[in-house]
Amino acid sequence: MSLILGTRPDRLNPSDERGLVYDDAVRQRTEALYPLVRDLVTPMEWPALAPLIDGVRRLKAERGAVILAHNYMTPDIFRLIGDFRGDSLQLAMEAAATDAPVIVQAGVHFMAETSKILSPEKTVLIPDMRAGCSLAASITGADVRLIRQAWPGVPICTYVNTSAEVKAESDITCTSSNAIQAAEHIAREWGVKRVIMIPDEFLARNVAANTDLSIIAWRGRCEVHESFSGRDIAEIRAAHPGVTILAHPECPPDVLEEADFAGSTSAIAHFVRERSPRKVVLLTECSMSDNIAADNPGVEFLKPCNLCPHMKRITVANIYDALRDMKHVVEVDEDIRIRAQRAIEAMLALPRPTRPATFLRGRPPVPVELI
Ligand code: 13P
Ligand code: SF4
Repeated sequence: MSLILGTRPDRLNPSDERGLVYDDAVRQRTEALYPLVRDLVTPMEWPALAPLIDGVRRLKAERGAVILAHNYMTPDIFRLIGDFRGDSLQLAMEAAATDAPVIVQAGVHFMAETSKILSPEKTVLIPDMRAGCSLAASITGADVRLIRQAWPGVPICTYVNTSAEVKAESDITCTSSNAIQAAEHIAREWGVKRVIMIPDEFLARNVAANTDLSIIAWRGRCEVHESFSGRDIAEIRAAHPGVTILAHPECPPDVLEEADFAGSTSAIAHFVRERSPRKVVLLTECSMSDNIAADNPGVEFLKPCNLCPHMKRITVANIYDALRDMKHVVEVDEDIRIRAQRAIEAMLALPRPTRPATFLRGRPPVPVELI
């Protein structure tokens, strides 16, 4: 089965299923796009994909929609139909800034909720409501209210990978691009030296190793990044001498200790673009390498592949259906939305670094208090 087309030999392809055909007009309108995915889509597969791509582009224009595509989307979405691409922070900023009346979130549910919180007057669509996140599923608003009672006077800095309800109980949100900055900012504002960081235990531990603050952490994990380990890095280095290893800060601390670079998905892309290392391994979700390989032809990508099953629920076919049927509309209760917006806007008001923030590697682990 092709990761991009999601086709099975016993089924019609997704274009045929929707009555979309590869005729001369579609061929002409899409032929300039094929080179952007040539490495991943064979010439035989293209006639099955092109009508869908063409259909999405037509529907986007009809609806006045923009597609916000996370760095983990498959390359057909990322390169051919995404209007804005980036990490969680960049997509949130884009959702707040766009004039388009319709936003299609090519990402997971918490990202769509963030867009709705920041742009309540817009219609926000997610192509598959089941596109969740193991971190977001690990904690509820009621949990945060209990945490607040147990640690009065300690600010709560919440990763955006959470529900709107959890954000509504928080003092500031953060992403992997600004987690250290947000924790230090909220501690300064509250005049304290301790910060509660929820729900990602590893992100919290990695922040703890990069700041003088004491960190209190929840035991949530990203199911994609928790499976990498420092031992994997030793094995990769032994098998590929000279390789540059880049890791996302949702990885366990022993990974960040051994990696050559750690930062958000966009910080990783920036590093590869700027430094052009000869050979790299990205310890993050699979599609990242595919998405940035085309822009970095001199770089060899080794691809240990950990798929995020939630991100992979989003396909070109269900983006087409979402735009055709204006589904699935993401709503956030107004009381929750207003409180969540406050926490997100506290993050968006942080000074913007000129370069993507990075985590220092080689830092020894620091103890954190676990909730
Ligand atoms: P970024 O903010 O780095 O894009 O990460 C989002 C995410 O879900 C990573 O697993
Ligand atoms: Fe959530 Fe991990 Fe998937 Fe990101 S990669 S959406 S943190 S499960």
